[in-house]
Amino acid sequence: MSVTVVVGSQWGDEGKGKIVDYLSQTADVIARYQGGDNAGHTIVFNNHKFSLQLLPSGIFYSDKLAVIGNGVVLNPVALFSELNYLHENGVTTDNLRISSRAEVIMPYHLVLDQLSEQNRAHKIGTTKKGIGPAYMDKIARTGIRVADLIDPESFKPLLKENLNQKNQLLTKLYGVDPLDFDSIYEKYQLLGERLRPFVTDTAELLHHYLDKNILFEGAQGIMLDIDQGTYPYVTSSNPVAGGAAVGGGIGPTEIKKVVGVCKAYTSRVGEGPFPTELVNEIGDLIRDTAHEYGTVTHRPRRIGWLDTVALRHAARVSGLTSLAVNCVDVLDQLPNIKICTGYRLNGELIDYYPASLNELDRCEPVYQTLPGWLSDTTACTTFAELPKNAQNYLKTIENLVEVPIEWYSVGPDRTQTHRR
Ligand code: GDP
Ligand code: IMO
Ligand code: MG
Repeated sequence: MSVTVVVGSQWGDEGKGKIVDYLSQTADVIARYQGGDNAGHTIVFNNHKFSLQLLPSGIFYSDKLAVIGNGVVLNPVALFSELNYLHENGVTTDNLRISSRAEVIMPYHLVLDQLSEQNRAHKIGTTKKGIGPAYMDKIARTGIRVADLIDPESFKPLLKENLNQKNQLLTKLYGVDPLDFDSIYEKYQLLGERLRPFVTDTAELLHHYLDKNILFEGAQGIMLDIDQGTYPYVTSSNPVAGGAAVGGGIGPTEIKKVVGVCKAYTSRVGEGPFPTELVNEIGDLIRDTAHEYGTVTHRPRRIGWLDTVALRHAARVSGLTSLAVNCVDVLDQLPNIKICTGYRLNGELIDYYPASLNELDRCEPVYQTLPGWLSDTTACTTFAELPKNAQNYLKTIENLVEVPIEWYSVGPDRTQTHRR
C-alpha cells in the first residue's frame, strides 16, 4: 500500500509514460498532478503505439481510476480530442475523473503563449499550448477553474471579465484583433456540459485510496521545474515530486516512493542550457537511432551525454528513492560512452546546479569514458543477460547518482522494461 510518484529527472521525454504504464499494473489509481497537454507520453503495447498529452498513462487499465488532479491546466478541446482518439482505437475511458479545481486553458491562453513567445528577446521554445498564460491566471487568482466552467452562473461573468482584460492585451499591447465573447461562451459552455460527468473533488477521492496504491505521473522533468529547473527556460509548473502533494491534494507524508525516470543519455527540446549537449555526429546517431523528435511539436530533440550533476540535483530536490533508466539499447552501437561526473566552474569542481545562467554557461562538464558494448540488448530480459559493459554503465550511474536503479529498459515496448 503506497503512494508512488514518477518524475522525469532530466528535461522531459525520459519515457515517463512508459514507466507509468508499466507500474500501473500494480496501482489502483493513476493521477496527473501538473502540466497540461504540453506533455507527450508514449506507451507501446500489443504492437500499438499511443501518444497521450493530457490523460494519465494508466487510462488503458479500465479497472483502475485515471485522475486529472487539481494541479493540471486542462484544455477541454484537447481533452475531448484525446478521448476521441482513444475511443477510435478501442480504448474505453469511463475510468477518468477530473478535478473540479483544475485550471482551464482558454483560447486566449493559446494566443498569448504564441504572442509572448514571438515578442520575447530570448525565446523559451514553448509548446504553444497556453500552459504559461493559464498558470499566470491561476497565480493571479483571475482564472477559470473546471468548477467555474461547469457552473453556468459563474462561467459567464468570469469569462466576460477575463476576456475584457485579455482583449486589452491583445489589441493594445500586441496590436492584434480581439477575441469574440459570444462564440467562446457558446463553445465552452457546451464543453463544460460534456466535462461535467467526469468532474469531482479528486483530492477527496484520492484520500479514499490512501490505503491502496496511488501512482502519480509527473509531466515534463525536474530540470524544467519552475523552481528547480534552468529558469527561465522551464515550464510553468512543479514537476518535482513535491508537486504531487500540491497538485494531487494529498499530504507530503503520504508519498513513500519517488521514481526518477531518465534516459541512458540526455535529451532536451526547446531552448536553454544543456552543458553535455552533443552537436556532432554522435548526437545525430543517437537522435536517428531513438527517433528523438518531439511527441507534441515534432521538433528534433537536442541530444547529450548523461549528466549526473543534473541527476544528483534531481535526486536532492525530489527525494528520489529509485531510478528507472530507459533507452539502454539506444547506446548499443557506440564504441565509447561518456558520462558527465561533475562540472568545473572557474577551475573548481562543483557539485551543485548553478542557478545563474552565466555561471552555468561557464561550467565545463567533466567526463568519465566507459567502453561501449557494441551488441544488441533489445532482447535481454534480465540484468545478467546484459553485456558486461552495459551492466557496468548502469552500475556507474547508480554509484554516481547514489540512487539505486530499480528498472531499466531496452526498448519502448511494455515488455522491454525489466527489474534491475
Ligand atoms: P515521456 O514524455 O517522458 O513519457 O517520454 P516520450 O514518450 O515523450 O519520449 C520517450 C521516447 O522514447 C518515446 O518515443 C518512446 O517510445 C521512446 N522510448 C522509451 N523507452 C525507450 C527505450 O528503452 N528504448 C528505446 N529505443 N526507446 C524508448
Ligand atoms: P513531457 O511530459 C519535453 C518544454 C518546452 C519548452 C519549455 C516550456 O512529454 O516530458 P511550455 O509549453 O511548457 O511552456 O514549454 O518546456 N517542455 C517539454 N519538453 N517534454 C515535455 O513534456 C515538455 N513540456 C514542455 O519544449 O522548452
Ligand atoms: Mg514527452
